[in-house]
Amino acid sequence: MLAKAPQSFETLRLLLRKPLPGDAQGIFRRYGGDPVVTQFLNWPTHRTIADTYAFLRWSDAEWERWPVGPYLLFCREGQNQRVLGSAGIAFKEHEAPEAGYALAQSAWGQGYATEALRAMVEIARLLGLESLRARCHVEHADSLRILEKCGFRCEGIARERLLFPNLSGGVQAEVLNYSIRLDQTAGEGYFSTTTPRQKAT
Ligand SMILES: CC(C)(COP(=O)(O)OP(=O)(O)OC[C@H]1O[C@@H](n2cnc3c(N)ncnc32)[C@H](O)[C@@H]1OP(=O)(O)O)[C@@H](O)C(=O)NCCC(=O)NCCS
Repeated sequence: MLAKAPQSFETLRLLLRKPLPGDAQGIFRRYGGDPVVTQFLNWPTHRTIADTYAFLRWSDAEWERWPVGPYLLFCREGQNQRVLGSAGIAFKEHEAPEAGYALAQSAWGQGYATEALRAMVEIARLLGLESLRARCHVEHADSLRILEKCGFRCEGIARERLLFPNLSGGVQAEVLNYSIRLDQTAGEGYFSTTTPRQKAT
């Protein structure tokens, strides 16, 4: 039996927390409805706010059913509480848990995606997972680099192609499989020492 993840979590610069109904507009405007952000993701760009509410219902169901679901990312410092993006660990029956992340364009190039993925690795450890995987479009160099910076190892091209609903009206494309073994990787001191990290309950 796996532990349940904390609904909020802090890193050096980020607050991660479970999405709430009041986050819909921020998610839609900042990244969910942005076709540039969603081009390499496996869910369709939100066309209206109704799509974002559907995401929030799905997120609640994920948190209910599995040890963890999606988190929204915010800056810990300052008054600006705009959502920066999201990161999460997706569970499915008979499949290894998989990490994902997406940031609003204005939050790119600041190391937040790397910090958020490292948090997913840390949360996976808290849950007692032995490994975490990720899949990425073979041409998505920015994301492949993040995976490697966070200690994920490339295991080659996946046997099955994945659907990318936002590329050229929807295409099946080759993806690279990545994974990280959680028992072998030491923490890198990326987390706040001023605020105690929350423990899984
Ligand atoms: C892919 C994606 C997450 C990359 O985001 P990003 O902000 O470029 O990634 P990083 O967090 O690694 O930050 C990149 C740069 O920030 C810079 N940076 C600035 N301040 C930094 C800091 N304090 N710490 C670390 N890096 C910092 C670094 O130079 C780093 O580049 P480098 O690794 O070449 O040195 C982002 O483009 C995105 O959200 N895309 C859309 C969604 C998506 O495709 N998700 C992945 C699906 S597989």
